[in-house]
Amino acid sequence: MSMRLDVSATPEQALARCASAIAQALAAAAQPSLCLAGGTTPRGAYAMLAADYENALDWHRVGYWFGDERCVAPTHPKSNYRMALDSLLDPLGVPSHQVHRMLAELGAQEGARRYAQRLTDRLGARPVFTVALLGMGQEGHTASLFPGSPALQAGELVVGVDVPAVPRERITLTPAALSAEHVFLLVTGEQKRDALAAAVAAKAPDPHLPTSYVRGSIETVCFCDAAAAPADS
Ligand code: 6PG
Repeated sequence: MSMRLDVSATPEQALARCASAIAQALAAAAQPSLCLAGGTTPRGAYAMLAADYENALDWHRVGYWFGDERCVAPTHPKSNYRMALDSLLDPLGVPSHQVHRMLAELGAQEGARRYAQRLTDRLGARPVFTVALLGMGQEGHTASLFPGSPALQAGELVVGVDVPAVPRERITLTPAALSAEHVFLLVTGEQKRDALAAAVAAKAPDPHLPTSYVRGSIETVCFCDAAAAPADS
């Protein structure tokens, strides 16, 4: 299944359309689970979900997971967990037992081992999220899967990685775990245009294009703004 581009004029409109799609997909699920993206872009979409979709579904029934985490304390400004807690989980009053945090403070290897155990305990040997939200770096990485990373072919569900970005030590779901009914990418900014054009054109998994490994069983949609949209879109 190919990736569908949903192009908005502005970043704010792309965030809003992505938030609407997330709420709609979760509301229709019997046992909703949401794999959260990190970085900075999703913060605006999470804030919109908390502010505008509070009554769209029972957010306390959703299981919250993370696509990757930096090996820092959960209170650190660069923690993906902290970003989601501040912008989405706390504002919606999500009970902590519904939030499956990567214990990245234990280090990449031990944290990855424990998260894989948690995933299989809760979602089975072949976990499938209702929604997986992903971002993309300007060189094409997603989660903490960077171009050419051996993690792209890993058999494990979760691995510790050393990445060419700060913080370097991270935990990431592998493509084996980044399986969802709805895969939504959120990509804004002209600096990501070339990587997005390559990702959209990809017809098969390509180690140089990590996002080419992640496709939803129902849909794969990239919500982007005009600045990030490929020229011919
Ligand atoms: C992370 C994210 C990563 C992110 C991209 C884009 O931990 O950094 O999981 O994959 O989505 O780096 O980040 P921005 O949204 O900040 O551009």
